[in-house]
This record gives sequence, structure tokens and C-alpha cells, in this order.
Amino acid sequence: MRVKSIEFRENRVYLLDQTRLPQETVVLELHTAQEVTRAIEEMRIRGAPALGVAGAYALVLASWEQEGEEVDQLQQRLNEAAQEIGEARPTAVNLTWALRRLLQAAEGAATPEAVRQALLEEAQAIQREDEEANRLMGLHGAPLVPPGSAVLTHCNTGALATTAHGTALGVLRTAWQQGRLRHVYTTETRPLLQGARLTSWELVQEGIPATLIVDSASGALMRQGRVACVMVGADRIAANGDVANKIGTYTLAVLAREHGIPFYVAVPTSTVDLSLPSGEDIPIEERAPQEVTHVGGQAIAPEGIEVYNPAFDVTPHRLVSAIITEWGVVRPPYQEGLRRVCSSPR
Ligand code: MRU
Repeated sequence: MRVKSIEFRENRVYLLDQTRLPQETVVLELHTAQEVTRAIEEMRIRGAPALGVAGAYALVLASWEQEGEEVDQLQQRLNEAAQEIGEARPTAVNLTWALRRLLQAAEGAATPEAVRQALLEEAQAIQREDEEANRLMGLHGAPLVPPGSAVLTHCNTGALATTAHGTALGVLRTAWQQGRLRHVYTTETRPLLQGARLTSWELVQEGIPATLIVDSASGALMRQGRVACVMVGADRIAANGDVANKIGTYTLAVLAREHGIPFYVAVPTSTVDLSLPSGEDIPIEERAPQEVTHVGGQAIAPEGIEVYNPAFDVTPHRLVSAIITEWGVVRPPYQEGLRRVCSSPR
């Protein structure tokens, strides 16, 4: 299976609209940075690595949106556009990381044409590196899956969340290809159901045996001895190894510790933010109450109820057994290991 979450061709961004899956396969053709930014806010594309690539191409589109600018004016406008694009989803650091890389790549360019060329080349490099990182994470992470085992995962960390086969789900794909993995349990991942709608869709397409559970069944499943390890992705990892990921990840990590089950996190190093000492400093996106009060456009809660809807939580590093990256598996203490993998040459 080769799902393409995002493509860039002839100055257009093509996104597989993830809000319509699995019922409909709709590819959106986007022409402006603003359209891509709105698609990011509305989670038509989502997942940390895919957000980085989408943000990068949004900036490429922005570079074409005014004619007759001097190079300084263009650079100034790009800085403003990057600010706006970066604010669309604040927790996934890949978004601002990619935008910063593009701005840096275009810094010394002498003409508007050279700026545009530098931006495009850097965006394409980020996409290529993500594909390679997915492949390498799979190879490093698969040996952590005990032969013949069942693994629990959360949210969607697959092809839809990246530009290749995924981070945590990519590790599971590789483990499946190697004949190690027997079964995947995926949570439905309330409120937006990335597990039920997207991970289940990817697993069914690929023919990997999988079972969908409601989020609150995870503890019972672990207690019954049916889970060998938990494998999740992340939106940002602080320098000390604290992990921000989809709301409910922390709950899974606590449950895993209680049941003596390893808890693994798979990320490209672009998700590691060494500038933040701990998870306390990670900005957590809060989203609209309607995501909780409504399912598929139908109200399921009375009007007037107050809602708290954080999209992510932070799992303290002491609950994390290992972090799988494209440059190898990092074990505690994380400070040193994360620094090492982040300084590996690209
Ligand atoms: O709100 P989402 O769907 O963008 O959240 C996605 C996640 O939490 C993923 O686990 C994370 O981005 C890793 S994706 C490879």
C-alpha cells in the first residue's frame, strides 16, 4: 500500500483529506499558503512529520503570492507567513522546525528567484529525509517487538501522519514484514477518532490483523495479558525525554508501568526539541469544544456543558522505556542520548 498524505506538483499542494476518511477518499488541490494553513488547522492533514512537510510547502506557495517584490520585501513577507503557518498547530514542533529550515535555507539568496528555488529544494529535502527516517525507525524499532506478540498503539502514526510508512505504525509495519508482529490493538482515540478512522483504515488496507478498542478498554486489555508493548509517536519531545503526544498517551504510559509492559515512542529527530528542558515547557494545543460535544456532526452532549479539550498530554520520561529514532534507539538517561542522535549528520 502506498498512501500519499501530501504531494507537491507544479506549485500546487495535494492533500488527502483526512477528515473524510475512511468513508471517502478526497484529494484537495490547494493553491495558497492560506489554504494549506486552514487545512492544517482543520486537521485535513495532521501528524507531526506530515505537518512539517505541509508547512514547508505552504511557505513555498507563499513565496509566489506577490509579484515585483525586492528580495528584502520577499524575505520579510516570508517571515510573517512562517509565523502565521506555524501558529496553526502549536504542539507539533516539526511544523516550526521545517519553517525555520526553509527560512534559513533562503537567507543568503540574492534574488527572489533564488529565494524560491532555495525554499523548494529545502521542502523537498525535508520530505525525502522524512521518508528515509521512517524506513530507518522501522529497522531500529522492529527488534523491540517480541516475536509473535500483540502491540497496542494510539492515534495515527502511519502513512497518513508522515510522508512514507509512519513512525510508531511504521515500526509495526516493519515488524509485521519481518514476521515478528502477530496483532495490533488500536485505540479509537477520542475525540477525533484518528485510531478508529485512520489507523484502522491503514491496518485493514495492509492486511495486518488488528482490533479496535475504545480508549477506556486499554487497562482491561493490559490486565488480561494481551499486550506485549505499547508503541506510540510524539508531537514533541523535550531535552529530558518528556513526551507530548495525543491526549490519552499519558494514561497508557501509567497503565503500562502498572502492568510491567514496555512503553516505546518512535519519532524522527525533527520531533525532538532540545531547546525545551522539560515537558512542562511544551505548549499544549486546546481545541474547540464541538470536537467533544459532537460526533460526526451530531450533538452527543447537552448545550451549555463546559468542555476541556486538550489535544495532547505530556508523559514524563520516567514512564518511557525507549525512544526509537532514525539514528538508533535511545534509552534512559535521555538527556545525553537525545543530544547524541540530534547531532547525527543529516
Ligand atoms: O492531533 P493529531 O492527529 O495531529 O495528533 C497526532 C499525534 O498525536 C501523533 O501521535 C503524532 O503526531 C506522531 S505522528 C507520526
